[in-house]
Amino acid sequence: MPTPITNSPTRYGWVAILLHWLIGIIFIGQFGLGFIMVRIESQRTAFELIQLHKSFGFLLLGLIILRIAWRLGNTAPALPASVGSLERRTAPLAHLALYAFQLALPLSGWALVSVSMLEIPTMPFNLFVMPNLPLGLSDAAEGFWAAAHWYLAYAGAALVALHALAALRHHFWLRDSVLTRMITPSSARDME
Ligand code: HEM
Repeated sequence: MPTPITNSPTRYGWVAILLHWLIGIIFIGQFGLGFIMVRIESQRTAFELIQLHKSFGFLLLGLIILRIAWRLGNTAPALPASVGSLERRTAPLAHLALYAFQLALPLSGWALVSVSMLEIPTMPFNLFVMPNLPLGLSDAAEGFWAAAHWYLAYAGAALVALHALAALRHHFWLRDSVLTRMITPSSARDME
């Protein structure tokens, strides 16, 4: 049997699965790093951590663009027949919101460093200088984008938590294939 790289009508393929977990892990790490770096005493360590946070933020932005492109070119598998009508209508909206947050959050971080009067260059993983977005520098704009980044980060984290709880509910309570089909392209629960 050929290795399932792309999605099928009932299962996710390896590209969608790997992008899902890679982005999920980096997202959680990014949130933790962001939370710690703004609370740390040592200015030097905070500076280093912020540079790391910016690097992983751009890595995430690249992966998310790849993921959205892959999603647009690959129809997602249909929900199992056992899923109720309310969830059938709300799940696509929740997933759309997750994609919107995944894009808006790193973009707001990029806007934040672009308008900062400190003008600290961003060099993802010390590889190259990332150009700033063409936005005017000012303290007021920095305050605006810092607040936007904060709200997006916390609302995004809440949405991710809700998403994980919904997946666990499917696995342990409803006992369908919704979680397992995002772990491997073949699953014992496929026929449900
Ligand atoms: C999906 C990716 C990202 C996540 C999950 C994330 C998350 C966070 C979090 C949780 C904070 C701390 C908020 C607080 O408690 O005050 C933070 C702060 C920050 N983030 Fe991000 N971030 C992401 C992407 C980025 C990117 C791409 C950049 C820049 C290129 C960036 C730049 C910053 C900066 C400069 C701060 C400090 C803000 C301040 O001084 O108040 N972030 N981020």
